[in-house]
Amino acid sequence: MEKILITGGAGYIGSHTAVALYAAGYQPIIIDDFSNSEKKVLQGLRKITGKETPCYTGDCNNPELMEKIFTENKLSGVIHFAAFKAVGESTQQPLKYYKNNINSLLVLLETMAKHGVANLVFSSSCTVYGQPDTLPVKESTPRKDAESPYGNTKKICEDILADQVKSKAALSAIALRYFNPIGAHESSQLGELPIGVPANLVPFVTQTGAGIRKELTVFGNDYDTPDGTCVRDYIHVMDLAEAHVKAITYLKGRKAPFYDWYNVGTGKGNTVMEVIETFEKVSGKNLHYTIGPRRPGDVVKVWADTEKINRELNWTARFTLEDALRDSWNWQLSLRENSPS
Ligand SMILES: NC(=O)c1ccc[n+]([C@@H]2O[C@H](COP(=O)([O-])OP(=O)(O)OC[C@H]3O[C@@H](n4cnc5c(N)ncnc54)[C@H](O)[C@@H]3O)[C@@H](O)[C@H]2O)c1
Repeated sequence: MEKILITGGAGYIGSHTAVALYAAGYQPIIIDDFSNSEKKVLQGLRKITGKETPCYTGDCNNPELMEKIFTENKLSGVIHFAAFKAVGESTQQPLKYYKNNINSLLVLLETMAKHGVANLVFSSSCTVYGQPDTLPVKESTPRKDAESPYGNTKKICEDILADQVKSKAALSAIALRYFNPIGAHESSQLGELPIGVPANLVPFVTQTGAGIRKELTVFGNDYDTPDGTCVRDYIHVMDLAEAHVKAITYLKGRKAPFYDWYNVGTGKGNTVMEVIETFEKVSGKNLHYTIGPRRPGDVVKVWADTEKINRELNWTARFTLEDALRDSWNWQLSLRENSPS
């Protein structure tokens, strides 16, 4: 089995991607420092796949550890998820974000070059588009100035990949620009594990539904959208996981140097109110929410043009908003069942 290193593989998207990699016949190898994940993720992975996934515990900024992993494993490629991702925190502690998110890519690229590993899939984000002037947003749309240090790290990392490829280095890279990942594995053995108060809408919704949070605040309902609330493109995490498998497989057929980038979304936008209504439908719960003021810096509406990834990587989202919210809700319920009373 060809080995694929997944940095940050114990995290939300990484762990689901490990499941998809197994299903496609790859052997995932994880490195994670568990700064934003828990060891029990590995148990969930074992329950779904029936396999013990090799996991190196440590920081992928550590060149010696990376050297050890690359020496011990003949890798076909790498998927680089490891990063800090809290937008709000990044405005308070920008250096923490620049240091981790950028340096980890530099260490990884140096180690890959040294070991002759060319194929890399990088986790980028639709945040690089800011508020696009036209929708749906295409990959050819110029990026805007980042709204946060976190967003800037994604832009800078994309630029590093582009420059490295321009230098004719033996690198074949794809940046996947994720829209809004939600949902969980249908088995409820894996899902999103936000530490503290969730910064994203769906974990906040499911925690409110479960009574962990008293109520949800909807930030603004007077925007220029169908019902006045913000619009996002919500993509099921297993669809997103599958896009990584398609990307890494595609890269194996390319000749280095190569760099390209793709939107990963459903191509549909949904408002916050639609998310709330769909959640109420799938959970049978009445969600407590209030309408609050607009939140500064929020993008009003964004959704993906997915034609490029559909055509070139032969990938299309399969799951609906309803599927994703049902899986998120079942995951939330499973956390309650498994938590110590
Ligand atoms: N979840 C989203 O909404 C979203 C959207 C766009 C892009 N992304 C990007 O996708 C990637 C994965 O996101 P996620 O939602 O799975 O986040 P996550 O926090 O659940 O997963 C990231 C994992 O990386 C680990 N990690 C962080 N720094 C590390 C380091 N230096 N060494 C080793 N491990 C480290 C964390 O412990 C965590 O397990 C990130 O790069 C994120 O910026 C996420």
